[in-house]
Amino acid sequence: MLTLSSPAKINLFLRILRKRPDGYHELASLFQTISLCDQLTFEQSKHDTFTCSDPALPLDHNNLVIKALNLFRKKTGIVQPITIHLEKHIPHQAGLGGGSSNAATTLWALNELSGRSVSIQALVSMGAELGSDVAFFLSRGTAYCTGRGECIEEVPALPQKALTIVKPKVGLSTPLVYGNLRTDSLLQRDPVKVLEGFMKGSPIYFNDLEVPAFIVMPELKALKENLQLAGYTDVLMSGSGSSFFCIGERENELSSELQQYSVNFINREVGDWF
Ligand code: C5P
Repeated sequence: MLTLSSPAKINLFLRILRKRPDGYHELASLFQTISLCDQLTFEQSKHDTFTCSDPALPLDHNNLVIKALNLFRKKTGIVQPITIHLEKHIPHQAGLGGGSSNAATTLWALNELSGRSVSIQALVSMGAELGSDVAFFLSRGTAYCTGRGECIEEVPALPQKALTIVKPKVGLSTPLVYGNLRTDSLLQRDPVKVLEGFMKGSPIYFNDLEVPAFIVMPELKALKENLQLAGYTDVLMSGSGSSFFCIGERENELSSELQQYSVNFINREVGDWF
């Protein structure tokens, strides 16, 4: 039996560059894995079974775990029956990459159980086929991602930071947020310079998807302002929302309607999982 953590991510900065002819958006973003994790267990068995602690999630091919299993089998020809259980802690529709992380963790686990039959590069290509964020979760945890998100460049781990993830009850659909983005009105920041700033210890946190997310759900703008008023020094939406990561200490209590998670950055060593 193999039990693995499946971590969430945040986007320390997220710059959208342009809309592509295929409908996706070209982006440049610094992704970081954090200590808020789901847990996946894998066990070779007589029949395939998949169970999940969250009854709201599909258990068929619409779940990225099953998509990853099917793709790994197709690419490798290894089809041994397997029992998989997913213990869900990462909220969905939150911009934290929970489903993508589960897919990457599944690819890693299946490769471990098969005696590392394929290379990490092969797993990364499978990840890129499954979704824009999946390949990132096969990095060591801090990566500069470009293309539609699937081109990953590992960067050194950043100094440790305590963060609070705040998730409102409402979630956001990624295609809906991208659909409300106006690329002609974005600030023309140079992402390579922003990345250098992070590496030198002078970070600038920003997310080009905040404006369209606030158009879709104006109460998120109010939430961001409330979190800033509560005393946090930096408050930024992660990915396409609806969660925020907050840096610093707050002075005032937050509404009990909000889910809160105290987290830190995590990274893995080469050859190990998170
Ligand atoms: O690749 P993934 O399935 O995660 O993307 C979900 C949706 O998010 C896409 O269908 C697209 O609408 C939007 N998207 C985008 N540009 C990206 C990533 C995602 O427009 N770089």
